[in-house]
Amino acid sequence: MPALVLLGAQWGDEGKGKATDLLGGSVDYVVRYQGGNNAGHTVVVGDQKYALHLLPSGILSPGCTPVIGNGVVVDPSVLFSELSGLNERGVDTSKLLISGNAHIITPYNVTVDKVTERFLGKRKIGTTGRGIGPTYADKINRVGIRVQDLYDESILTQKVEAALDVKNQMLTKFYNRRAIAVDQVVEELLGYADKLAPYVADTVLVLNQALEQDKVVLFEGGQGTLLDIDHGTYPFVTSSNPTAGGACTGAGVGPTKISRVIGILKAYTTRVGAGPFPTELFDEDGEALRRIGGERGVTTGRDRRCGWFDAVIARYATRVNGLTDFFLTKLDVLTGWEQIPVCVAYEIDGKRVEELPYSQTDFHHAKPVYEMLPGWSEDITGAKSFSDLPKNAQAYVKALEEMSGAPISAIGVGPGRDETIEINSFL
Ligand code: GDP
Ligand code: IMO
Ligand code: MG
Repeated sequence: MPALVLLGAQWGDEGKGKATDLLGGSVDYVVRYQGGNNAGHTVVVGDQKYALHLLPSGILSPGCTPVIGNGVVVDPSVLFSELSGLNERGVDTSKLLISGNAHIITPYNVTVDKVTERFLGKRKIGTTGRGIGPTYADKINRVGIRVQDLYDESILTQKVEAALDVKNQMLTKFYNRRAIAVDQVVEELLGYADKLAPYVADTVLVLNQALEQDKVVLFEGGQGTLLDIDHGTYPFVTSSNPTAGGACTGAGVGPTKISRVIGILKAYTTRVGAGPFPTELFDEDGEALRRIGGERGVTTGRDRRCGWFDAVIARYATRVNGLTDFFLTKLDVLTGWEQIPVCVAYEIDGKRVEELPYSQTDFHHAKPVYEMLPGWSEDITGAKSFSDLPKNAQAYVKALEEMSGAPISAIGVGPGRDETIEINSFL
């Protein structure tokens, strides 16, 4: 029953793409269970670099079947441009399966995302502008369009009409925008139906049958724990559940089937978009982390906000996801600092707090309490085993492991597939 969940333990961009790709060679299915093309997962294979947004990172491993689960929101135009980009580079994408229950990001949902963000002004969330929130809102409001609706023109038209009824009122009367024509949207969506058909499947059945046959299934999260709609820094979050439970609902697999939950954890912290971030740096150290770590968004090209490692967040991720392992990434980026501060607790209104406060007001006031760990100057990018690391790098990893509450089973020392130290096998 080898089902593994691999998810972001911080605010996204922890290196999930690389970690998924690394395991992709040994698993039968890689499944995206939530989010959409707000994700940007970078995979480096030899001298080739791939940026994946909607497609599971397992698509680069020939033996692996990539699956887009029911919990994902799919923008068909992005899907086909991503597929053709990969095909042009010689990647076979014919095995892809897409759930008929997945919701579609319609053109009006992208419009609504952009106009609402603009309207919020300085209170904006800093979304990726890909229509994610409005599409999930339609799903919850029961006016969403699903992949299966593309195969019944009359139902599709009725559903688009229902969705646009209210939205057009809002767009024209409130946001001073032009109304969106039902026929135009229906025509565009129907235009994808035939191209999409070969990929559409009952993915819940496929995945459960695969598990019964002892196939290995890897669930690849988008975003991260602190961006989770329920467990993240609401309202500065995404509109889905990247946490481990999301894999069950977003793929239709019961929790008893999940054998391992791996949290991808950057050796420092980054965040894109607005919202609280206690260890954020506004000085030369922050600039250096951004430069050395190449911390620029894969999806929107925005500079990522950078800060030191936050053990309070890591502990929280262990708890809400039931993590069994961590995959620590980008340790190499920290080479060269004499001392590395690590946030071990917060100070909130003069009191020391060891765990993430449930109150957002408190979290906004949280000041990091740092412990200084000795740094190292040796190049670690060629390290193949834990003992190859300088003593202080080993001690840094061990300290993070102790504070974070789950074993660190792999360490990333570079972006490439083989720039990884494997400590405990994931399979
Ligand atoms: P994701 O969204 O979680 O898949 O992460 P991103 O791909 O958005 O950002 C992670 C970035 O770090 C990518 O550019 C990766 O190629 C890179 N990366 C991943 N692991 C490592 C590592 O261990 N060391 C270094 N230097 N780069 C890494
Ligand atoms: P990966 O999978 C980092 C952030 C956005 C914004 C908030 C809401 O590459 O880790 P949305 O468009 O989802 O409604 O935006 O979430 N965000 C991400 N930040 N990595 C991501 O994905 C993200 N996906 C969304 O910046 O703050
Ligand atoms: Mg990313």
